[in-house]
Amino acid sequence: MKHFINTEDMTRADLDELLALSEKVAANPEKYAEALKGKVVATIFFEPSTRTRLSFESAILRTGAGLISTENANESSSAGKKSETIEDTVRMLSGYADAIVMRHPANDSATKAVSVSTVPILNGGSGSFAHPTQSLLDAFTIKRARGSLDNVKIAFCGDLKLGRTANSLIKLLSKYDGTQVWALSTPGMELTPDVVDFMKKAKIPYTVCKSFEDIPQNVDAIYQTRFQKERVTDGMVVQDSSLVITPKVMQRFSAVTLVMHPLPRVDEICTTFDSDPRAIYFEQAHNGVPTRMAVLLKLLGGDK
Ligand code: CP
Repeated sequence: MKHFINTEDMTRADLDELLALSEKVAANPEKYAEALKGKVVATIFFEPSTRTRLSFESAILRTGAGLISTENANESSSAGKKSETIEDTVRMLSGYADAIVMRHPANDSATKAVSVSTVPILNGGSGSFAHPTQSLLDAFTIKRARGSLDNVKIAFCGDLKLGRTANSLIKLLSKYDGTQVWALSTPGMELTPDVVDFMKKAKIPYTVCKSFEDIPQNVDAIYQTRFQKERVTDGMVVQDSSLVITPKVMQRFSAVTLVMHPLPRVDEICTTFDSDPRAIYFEQAHNGVPTRMAVLLKLLGGDK
């Protein structure tokens, strides 16, 4: 594995190795405190981020690497002069850092970066196309809760069209046996045809739901998502979601049905649900540190 660009291209063996390393890192983080000493990692984010950027930067520092960073790269890097391409920006960073973590609104940004980079590219989110480290931490969270990633029954809710987390996680779970998917989308925000085709080819059973009542009570996880209003383009018809997770909605689900969310949330999970033991979204976000440490260690040879 040279880069970390999307979950579709990974093998089950790659994922199992990264998840096992994430467990080792989580159990004994101090063991890795100097594993990447002498390396420099660049983070360049062209979209806002709290969790991905800061958990990556925490992971970089916790593995002993140095960090160079440009937050809000649209303004603070030379891309803000409307003159520098992704390729030229990455060519420059390849000379300054041993790995590059990039988030960009364009679906093909990570592929463009890989085409010119001489160092590993870690995709911190590329348009609505992919968010592979989010999927890795999602998988880590599910595996920790239920012991295995085989036979996962998962319901995705909310904006499944413009978000990148649902399609990335579906592609990751396709590497495991027996995945079943339910989709309860905001009207007009359904999973895109390419993701539906992907599930058909991967033989993942897929059920469209109209309400929470259509989701089986014993699903392993309900993966709620927010409306990605920053990706709405002219002429796109969208409706506000009424698909809010509340303590009442969750009464019908099992005692072990996880409620997940990539965060940030707006109002699609009621804060009164936060104290429920099934509300795992903050722990899920914290899992970004050991999983991103594992990806850095793997790509930069610090896992030896
Ligand atoms: N889940 C996620 O990508 O959050 P941020 O946008 O805060 O990085």
